Amino acid sequence: MSFSTPLSRALGLTYPIVCAPMFIISNADMLVACAEAGILGAMPSLNGRTAEDFEAILQSVRARTDKPFAINMTIGLTDPERLAADVALCEQYEVPVWITSYGNPTELVHRAHAQGARVLHDVINLKHAKKAEAAGVDAIIGVAAGAGGHAGRISPYALIPYLRDNLSVPVVAAGCISTGKQIAASLALGAELVYLGTRFIPSVECGAQDAYKQMVVDSGPEEIVYTDKISGVHANFLRRTLPEDWTPDRTPEGAKQWKDIWSAGHGVAEIHDITTIENIVDALVREYHDAVAALPR
Ligand SMILES: Cc1cc2nc3c(=O)[nH]c(=O)nc-3n(C[C@H](O)[C@H](O)[C@H](O)COP(=O)(O)O)c2cc1C
Repeated sequence: MSFSTPLSRALGLTYPIVCAPMFIISNADMLVACAEAGILGAMPSLNGRTAEDFEAILQSVRARTDKPFAINMTIGLTDPERLAADVALCEQYEVPVWITSYGNPTELVHRAHAQGARVLHDVINLKHAKKAEAAGVDAIIGVAAGAGGHAGRISPYALIPYLRDNLSVPVVAAGCISTGKQIAASLALGAELVYLGTRFIPSVECGAQDAYKQMVVDSGPEEIVYTDKISGVHANFLRRTLPEDWTPDRTPEGAKQWKDIWSAGHGVAEIHDITTIENIVDALVREYHDAVAALPR
């Protein structure tokens, strides 16, 4: 049974769920499987090593589904020439949803809106949310404490209603959402979409190595470390991928961030299997309805 919000309907989704963009490991197969399962799949443009690789991914997705998908562009972290090429490709292939992060989205908002695309912008606090709102984005993604990747410091219980109360655009909840119960809680807090990364690492379609998928299943939330010593920005990583003698004040030597040191969030707590995206979405929807029906009245 479908459930929806004004934003999920505006985006043409069956469910108000986004499979969040993940550096290196999101791929075309995930975008297609998500689209076919009725949710929004997202991928960083930089998962194409070159702009030509990114174009090949867009061609593959366009050939396999006519449903919506999203591309993430990390404005301030991407070489300007590459960013310009990726934006032009999003225009050429009419990417329906653009997800911006790390920088001023004004120009991308103008260009996306000129062709009817929507822009979601990712923040960890109200100050950056207000700036992005002024730049004209269609929704704000609030990335809470415990999220996989670069995570904020504010609990989702506080962040989502806080953004909702202080913004006029819809809010998307990100961080620690891995089950239908957590989706129900996020919608109760005022989110119009939920944004799940860690849950989709152990999906069959995900490009992560098998050992990474298994580690997400096997790790507990106590084994997630929050540090800025690995990528320069505070992010959450699996403790098991760090040297045993590593301490949070040190940058580990030799290992490559994201490639050898794997990221995941507190949401590992509720992840128990490696399965297809179709099965994950079915479970999320079933759990959501069960959770809502079981609320005390
Ligand atoms: C391995 C990994 C890589 C990520 N890479 C990116 C990225 O390139 N761009 C981005 O905006 N967010 C990135 N994120 C953050 C996710 O898009 C999303 O905000 C986060 O996973 C949501 O929290 P959750 O993992 O608790 O579900 C990444 C997250 C993970 C786990």
